Parts: sequence; structure tokens; C-alpha cells
Amino acid sequence: MKRTKISDIFAAPALDTTVDVMGWVRTRRGNKYVQFVALNDGSTIRNLQIVFDMSRFSDEQLKPVTTGSSIHVRGKLVESQGKGQSVEVQAEELTIFGTADETYPLQKKGHTLEFLREKAHLRPRTNTFGAVLRVRSALAFAIHKFFQDKGFFYLNTPLITASDCEGAGAMFQVTTLPLNDLPRTDDGAVDYSRDFFGKPTALTVSGQLEGELGATALGAIYTFGPTFRAENSNTPRHLSEFWMIEPEMAFYDITDNMDLAEEFVKYCIRYALDTCRDDIEFLAEHYDKELIGRLEGVLKQDFVRLTYTEGVEILEKSGRKFEFPVHWGTDLQSEHERYLVEEHFKRPVILTDYPKDIKAFYMKQNPDGRTVRAMDVLFPTIGEIIGGSEREADYGKLLQRIEELDIPMKDMWWYLDTRRFGTVPHSGFGLGFERLVLFVTGMTNIRDVIPFPRTPNNAEF
Ligand code: 4AD
Ligand code: MG
Repeated sequence: MKRTKISDIFAAPALDTTVDVMGWVRTRRGNKYVQFVALNDGSTIRNLQIVFDMSRFSDEQLKPVTTGSSIHVRGKLVESQGKGQSVEVQAEELTIFGTADETYPLQKKGHTLEFLREKAHLRPRTNTFGAVLRVRSALAFAIHKFFQDKGFFYLNTPLITASDCEGAGAMFQVTTLPLNDLPRTDDGAVDYSRDFFGKPTALTVSGQLEGELGATALGAIYTFGPTFRAENSNTPRHLSEFWMIEPEMAFYDITDNMDLAEEFVKYCIRYALDTCRDDIEFLAEHYDKELIGRLEGVLKQDFVRLTYTEGVEILEKSGRKFEFPVHWGTDLQSEHERYLVEEHFKRPVILTDYPKDIKAFYMKQNPDGRTVRAMDVLFPTIGEIIGGSEREADYGKLLQRIEELDIPMKDMWWYLDTRRFGTVPHSGFGLGFERLVLFVTGMTNIRDVIPFPRTPNNAEF
């Protein structure tokens, strides 16, 4: 079909030419002489005004043109007479693709985000979700561009796996065994040799371990794919299915890793500000007046770098009463992370050298015997946006940690081979894609930055 995108019209209006616009009607108003339709085609937050001269159209023709209906208008693009828009289309021909009666749920503006979550199949047609989804798409492109321009290779790691990278045990099992009639071994255990893969498998919580195989061959790789966590966390920052970007680099120490992480997130934010200005301005106006200032603030400042131990000291001395008390050895909660970022330093913080007992087995052990070379990047409004580390490159130390934590060797032999054969210092991190989209859009609930959120008790659509 010959279609003129509304975004192209606004970008470079070819006045006095004929255009063919197709989209969904947001509103129609007017009188018996003239009718105005606000048309949106998803290409931009901006609606195009269509003017129907009622000496050329009948009431019957316009009647089905209601909120939510889909139409094709051929007409002339002209400078607008009215205020509120620069150009408009004088309709010459009207085709109706599909009507939408009064049961269309998005009749008026101003629905709550909670209401729209229940209408997630239609919410992309709202201004807010159109904006969020366009920003999300731009950020995904920025991520590929950043790494491709740096010579990183895009590596696809498996979604079905037998190893629990983060060791948290929060995995979704994948099985084709009949759950109401499980095959058993002689001692009564489930007989996984009869399962599809001949052993227990689950959806991945991270592509990192396979990413390390790629990095120690190609030099530098990144993954960008879905990850799954079966934690029962009902928070505005956790999803059961989320997307993660995991770069992994040979010959990088923790400082190189921090430099890359900082450059990377700043690049993504800059890219969104440069390419999605209309959408971000819309979101700022409607949801978060401080959004653009906050985004630009992050770009201007160097991130603070300090150790977990120093961070905990600041929290302890703060005199603040936290919901979760904090002392050396505890995992930080988002209230602690946000205190450091929003109140103490007033800029993003990279916290390093966490206690080894609260971090995963693969992190490089420090000489002090109690901390590991971890790094978490903490952001205003979000808390942890990136988690990463320098990896333990020493075969003996890694093996010892795997044994200490009772991780089954049948899952780890291939990973250990990277340290047995040509081991190198290497590092990497994981950026939670939805947390980045949250930060850039100013939304406050992670369910509102992914088209179809999966959370405990919710797998609708
Ligand atoms: O800190 P995490 O668990 O680190 C890893 O998975 C490492 N394997 C990454 C690496 O070094 N390659 O997760 C990384 C990031 C977090 O900082 C957070 O932004 C996001 O993933 N994340 C989640 N996002 C949404 N919902 C969840 N349930 C998330 N869990 C982690
Ligand atoms: Mg983490």
C-alpha cells in the first residue's frame, strides 16, 4: 500500500502534495460544516489533523469514524489554519478499514497505568505506551550500535540450560515429563533420563557463562536476550522475564570494566535524548517534570567509584533509619543504593569489592580473602542498573570456590576448561534492559516498560 508516514510528514512537510495517511482515530469533533479528526499512525507521538469539508462528505460517511477506528485518508497537505499544529490534511477520499464501537476500552484520555496494565493488548495505542515502546526500540538499536562500533561480536547464548549461573536457584524448570505421572527410578526419584534432554533443564538466568566462552575466543562479545528468574519478588523493579545485555571482554580488568559500563550507559541515554526527543518530552510533561534534567545530569558527571566497605560505612554513619538494617556483610537493598546515589553523592555510583558470600561463585577473589572484584552500577530512582565483575581466572581458586559452594561438577566442567586452557584475565557485566528503559522514560513501574510483563501470578497476553 502506498502510505505516507505521519513522522515523515512532520519531519519534512511537502506542502500542497497529495498524501495517503493511514492510522487510528484518536478523536473526531466539529460541526455540520467541518469535521476534524486527530489521526495517529504509531510512527510518532504527534497526531495529524485531518480536515473534512462537509460539503464533500456526508454525515453517514463520517459516522463510523470514531475513536479507535482505522482509516485511510487521501488528501492535500497544507499549512494549518488553526493553532496547535503546523500542517494538516484536507481530506479528499476516505476509506474505513475497521470500525470501533463504544466498547473500545481506550475511549478517553487519562486512564491510570494500572487500568492500562489490564489492557496490555491495546495499551500500545495510547500516547504513553507508544512513547515508551519507541524509546525502548531506539535503546535496543543504540545497544547494538555501541558494541558493533567498538568491534564487539553479538553472541547468542542458549535460553534452555542446565547450569544456574547466578547460583540463586531461582530457575524455571523446562520439562516434557507428564507432571501427573512422573517416571521414577528404583529409589523413587524423578527419572530425568526420560525427560526431553535426558537431564533436568531450566530457562537461563544469565548468558554469562557461555558469554565467557565467546569472549575467551573472540576477544569481546555481547549478548542481548531474554532471561528468566523465578524469584517471588513483587517489586516495581523485578520481572520474571526480562532482557539483559551482557558484554564480556578478555584482557579487561575491573577498572576497564567500570570504564566500559559508564561509557555504555551514557551512550544509550545520549542516543535516546537525541533520537526520541518528542517522546521523552511527552513523558516528562505527563509523568516526571525532572526527567530531562536527570538524564542530562547523568551525562555530565563522572560516576562515583567506591568500595562496598566504604559505602556501608557511609550508610551506617548516615543516621538514617532504613527498613532493612545495614551492616558489613548484608546485601544492599534499593533503599540503601538510592540513599548513596540520590542523597549522599547526588550522582551515579559504582560500588566495588563486595563480600564474597553475597556474590556469585565466578567473581575474582581479592587478596583479603573476604571480598570479590564485583561492581554494581547504582542509579538515581532505580538502584542497581548493572551488575558485573572481574572473573576469577585462576583454575585452582575457581575450582575451590565451586567446591565450597557445592556446585555440581557435571554442570561446570566445560566452564572450568576456559581456565584450564589458555586462561586470561577477563571481565563483564549485565545491564537490565528494562531498568535502563525505566530510567530513560521516567516510568516508575517496570511492568510499564515491557510490552507484555511476566510477574508472579501474571502471564496474561
Ligand atoms: O546482577 P545480576 O543478577 O547479574 C548477572 O546476571 C550477571 N551474570 C551479569 C554479568 O556479569 N554478565 O543481573 C544483572 C542486571 C541487574 O543489575 C539488573 O539491572 C537486571 O539485570 N536484573 C533484573 N531486571 C529485571 N527484573 C529482574 N528480576 C532482574 N534481575 C536482575
Ligand atoms: Mg546484581
